[in-house]
Amino acid sequence: MNPEDLFSEVPPAELSTDAARDQIERLRAEIREHDHHYYVEAAPKISDAQYDRLFRRLKALEEAHPELLSPDSPTQRVGADPVDSLPTIRHTAPMLSLDSTQEPSEVRRFHERVLKALGHDGGTDSRSGETSGEPVAEGGDSRASSGDPPAGDAADEALPAFLLEPKLDGISIELVYVDGVLDRAVTRGNGREGEGVTENVRTIPSVPLRLRTVGRSAPDLLAVRGEILMRLSAFEALNEQLMEEGSAPYANPRNATSGAIRQLDPSVTARRPLECLAYDVLDVEGADFRTDMEGIEALREWGLVVPERVERVTTVDEILAYHARYDEDRDTLDYEIDGVVIKLDDLEDRVDLGSTSHHPRWALAYKFEPRKEITRIERIAIQVGRTGVLTPVALLRPVEVGGVTVSRATLHNREELERKDVREGDRVRVQRAGDVIPQVVEVVSEEGRERAEPFRMPPRCPNCDTPVEERGPFTYCPNRFGCMAQLKGRIVHFASRSGLDIEGLGEETAALLVDRGLVHQPAELFDLGVDEIEPLPGFAEKSATKLVEAIQRRRTTELRRFLYGLGIPEVGATVARDLATHFRSLEALLAADRAALQAVKGVGPTMSELIVEFLSDEHNRGAIDALHAQMEALTVPEQTGAGGPLEGQTFVFTGSLESMTRGAAKKRVEALGAKATSSVSGETDVVVAAPGAGRKRAKAEELGVEILDEAGFLALLDELEGA
Ligand code: IVH
Repeated sequence: MNPEDLFSEVPPAELSTDAARDQIERLRAEIREHDHHYYVEAAPKISDAQYDRLFRRLKALEEAHPELLSPDSPTQRVGADPVDSLPTIRHTAPMLSLDSTQEPSEVRRFHERVLKALGHDGGTDSRSGETSGEPVAEGGDSRASSGDPPAGDAADEALPAFLLEPKLDGISIELVYVDGVLDRAVTRGNGREGEGVTENVRTIPSVPLRLRTVGRSAPDLLAVRGEILMRLSAFEALNEQLMEEGSAPYANPRNATSGAIRQLDPSVTARRPLECLAYDVLDVEGADFRTDMEGIEALREWGLVVPERVERVTTVDEILAYHARYDEDRDTLDYEIDGVVIKLDDLEDRVDLGSTSHHPRWALAYKFEPRKEITRIERIAIQVGRTGVLTPVALLRPVEVGGVTVSRATLHNREELERKDVREGDRVRVQRAGDVIPQVVEVVSEEGRERAEPFRMPPRCPNCDTPVEERGPFTYCPNRFGCMAQLKGRIVHFASRSGLDIEGLGEETAALLVDRGLVHQPAELFDLGVDEIEPLPGFAEKSATKLVEAIQRRRTTELRRFLYGLGIPEVGATVARDLATHFRSLEALLAADRAALQAVKGVGPTMSELIVEFLSDEHNRGAIDALHAQMEALTVPEQTGAGGPLEGQTFVFTGSLESMTRGAAKKRVEALGAKATSSVSGETDVVVAAPGAGRKRAKAEELGVEILDEAGFLALLDELEGA
């Protein structure tokens, strides 16, 4: 259409409503297409001046005929008034997190796990390399369906395909289109509900207010997940502008994006250079996709921007190569990515694999090595831990590493310190990996600068002045029961999340209790009264009462928590749980010798020796006895179902159950003695098929395995659990 056709010389006010409506609709359609070419395709078809004429004419018509105004008009991106607060809105479907790793071995395990769950046991090697990476065609010529399993028996032969995408480091958002029109935009929030930021998202030019229908018609409903981000170039320009205005710059693009998207005044958001990339169909009605790739193709046709370089592969080697390629190009991109996302392509298979409460089992984020930054060590301090280990800690000139300010970093132990030859005053490279403590990676040499003397571990404990002992790479304070730093550490550990989980008993409080001589061993926590805690700094009657109550509630505690809380060397939450399930009582564990301990999974010769050594130590025994006297009962959670009515039976769950999670369903049948596995075979006795069930159900029918629907399954539980 020639843009000139859209102008009649007739002044807007003189047009009849019908004639105005006709012109308005043509103008809107035309402008939307130009917006799409400009912002999404980055390939404008007309000049800015031509575009402005179209836009001005539309505005004039709408002003003269306000009854024809509509919220999805291109003139209506910015217009809403500032608000006092953002509304809370429930998501169409839960917005889960992603499981993530940095280890190629974990990626292999993920791949194996998914294949196994889908019934492709082993044998992947011989077939690997059969299918190679298949970039998504730029245009609509989708080859997405070429990788779909052929019909018939061969279906089980084709290896499941995975989509690979960049992991964008922005702000997660849900966009909902109703009848093709943007209805709402909601931040991730807690995953179930988030903040309604619709008016702000409407100002982002690359977000269509109305889905494009050039390639396919709009669905009745579309809920899509995407990421809002700011390009690095735009971020730098914004910061410069902010500083010129005398405002504080943002620390990184992600913070700038987050601030912009949660604005109360949409006109501020409109001035921020935001973009939105869509990558996951959360829900759709009136369209049907079998694969993620089909979904992405549809999103593209509907005018949304999708991530670049999406690829479809089957083998782990292809996944690792994709990761390596992106890692290499990372610094040349104009936006931040922190890894790649691996997702199972087949949507029905995804339903089969299901999700934990936290993340789907069909996807994995494979992150890049963390960013490293350079700063200077101001001083090296020594920290004494609960086991008596002296840890050298670098106190740093604060530096931002991947969005977090770091001012301390561990130097691990004497051996590491010597190996890296880290000294006070050195310039060092610091890295932060996930949630772990920041580390000093290496010293950055500075020519001509005189360095301090090599750092030496102190000969005496900085806390209790006892001469230290060296064991392997570690330096210990041997004063296990007289060193207050160790006692504080033990109390914090005892009360921690995986231990007794005593709310309000953290480092600060533990230090107060020890320094004031109120607690000399964990068992004495139970003797604390409100009148002793209330006078402590930071406490009042109410908070003191709360702490005492939190402690008293733990007189009954699960055995695994108790065992973790003891702080036996090498015994973390998992081993503590396995010990508890195996021995079922503290007495049985205390009586166990090394051989008995090694019968527990995860416990080898070294660990069994450490456990025996710890439990037979006189002091430890005293502390345990004292605790045991205070604790009314140490419970062992959940009985196993051995001897239950379903003993010997194997269940498979497929589809999504409405009344409970799949995990809960498995636990229920296991408690009745059954086994729950993930693939249907000749060994399977019962398949519970909920809505969304696909291939496994078909397989069960083929093998003549009993199939229960959800109602049938609930009836069975009712009958057996009551018995
Ligand atoms: S898929 C539940 N794909 O990463 C699976 N997420 O660390 C849905 N993210 O909050 C997520 N880029 O917002 C997916 N290409 C991508 C992504 C991506 C960035 C974000 C996502 C999530 C976070 C998890």
